[in-house]
This record gives sequence, C-alpha cells and structure tokens, in this order.
Amino acid sequence: MHSDPTIYDLPSGWRLATFDELDSTNAELKRIVVAGKDHVEGLIIRANLQTAGRGRQGRAWISPPGNLYASFLIAAPEVSIASQIGFVAVVAVIDALAQVTDLPLRCKWPNDVLLHGKKICGILPELIADAMGRQWLVLGIGINLQPVKVADSAYPVTSLAEHGISASADTVVRFLAQDLDHRLGQWREHGFGPIARAWSTVGPQPGEIMAVRLPGAAGFLRGRFHGLDGEGALLVAAADELHRVLAGEVLFEPMPERRAGVG
Ligand code: BTN
Repeated sequence: MHSDPTIYDLPSGWRLATFDELDSTNAELKRIVVAGKDHVEGLIIRANLQTAGRGRQGRAWISPPGNLYASFLIAAPEVSIASQIGFVAVVAVIDALAQVTDLPLRCKWPNDVLLHGKKICGILPELIADAMGRQWLVLGIGINLQPVKVADSAYPVTSLAEHGISASADTVVRFLAQDLDHRLGQWREHGFGPIARAWSTVGPQPGEIMAVRLPGAAGFLRGRFHGLDGEGALLVAAADELHRVLAGEVLFEPMPERRAGVG
C-alpha cells in the first residue's frame, strides 16, 4: 500500500479533466468524441458529482459528491473483443483499490467489484463512433468512496469509508489510470489470457453455484460456474448442458433456492 499518493501522477499520454458537476461523465466524453475535439486515447473525464449518472441496464447511478465518477477513452478494437476491455477494467480497479486497502475485493461477472459481498464499483463500457467512423470505448467507472444512500436499491452497496478507508477521488483516479494503462498494455501484447487469469483469482470459483438473470427472460439460469470463454462470455453448467451467457446479470446472494436448471 502506498502512503503518499501525491507522487503518483498520470501515466504518459493520459490527460485528466475534472469538473465540479456533470450530468454524466460517460455522456460528456461521448459528446467530446462526437464533436471531434481532443478525443485521443487516454482522455479522462472526472466529475465531483453527477446529476444524471447512468448504470448498466438503464439503471441510474446515484452520484452524490465524495465518490469517484470517471470515464476513460480507449481506442476500441473490433467489436467481437471489445467486451474484454470490461474485464481489463475490473482487474485494473482491483489493482488500484489494492493500493489503498488490504480488504478482500472480489468481482462479479461481468464488471462489478464487490467488497464483502456488496457492490463498491460499477463499470459502464459504451462503444461510440466518431465522425470518421473510428470506434471508441467510453469506459465509465464509479467507485463508492463514501456511503451512498440508495432508496430501494436492487442490490447491496458499500463504500471504502464504511470499512475505515479514506481515499480521495483524485488519488484513486490516478492509481486507476496507471493500472488501466498497465493492464491495457498487457492485454494488447499478450491477449485475453493474462486478464482472464487475473479476473479468475478474484472471481467466482469453478463449480460455484450461481443464478443469472438473462435479458428478456422471465426466470433465471441456475447452475455452476464453469469459467469464461475467450470473449469473456460466462459459461454456466446447468442440467447437463453448458450455457454460454454473453449478456445478463449474476444475482447477488441470497440467490433463488432451486436446483440447477433454467427456471
Ligand atoms: C453499473 O450499473 O454497475 C455501472 C455503473 C457505472 C457508473 C459510472 S460513474 C462514471 C460513469 N458515468 C456514468 O454516468 N456512469 C459511469
């Protein structure tokens, strides 16, 4: 763990713009890409608060002051492997948070980071094309540094402060830029293998029971975790069949108590 964050600067080529307030850092970065001004890889937009923070699956991301809200611009590879960047991001978030806490961080497929089973970080990757037709990935990352009061939350949430850890958004975003830079380099040089292996050390273990809500499905897929495939799809063994899940949501515990199978 580092004790003096001020010496940790941005990696070469990365630039950080900090706003007091934005509707959403992802929305702002997408506006910059569409307007075609200064949209270079490594541009980071951070806001102290968001008035219309967005989460996955159309949910809102409650964004009071005190937490980290940042979006990172990444030159996107072909669409078939763009989803791998979400895993690169999760691993980088865990690397970055390991610099401020020893607490056991875990991840939940595809892009959540959990602390003691509660969500502490969410990631919203969005693909967007610029005027030249070039594809970019806007990687939005929200980390709860302070407690967040979410009325009627769909899932349990926690924060670093609730575990006695004090860290500023400015410090954490710089750690994150360094770890993202490192993990992106590793991914570009060596492919998905090292990222998937790093994810697996903090992700579900093979054979672990899980329930997945599939898009548009009334029920859940219940089964045992069987690993990730090369695209980052979730492999779930259920009722003697191996299911490949590209989109969906793994439920938080307690999960529905039923036998394995699609229910
Ligand atoms: C999730 O639902 O888990 C994803 C949450 C992503 C929140 C971050 S905060 C910074 C960026 N700007 C947004 O509007 N959303 C993402």
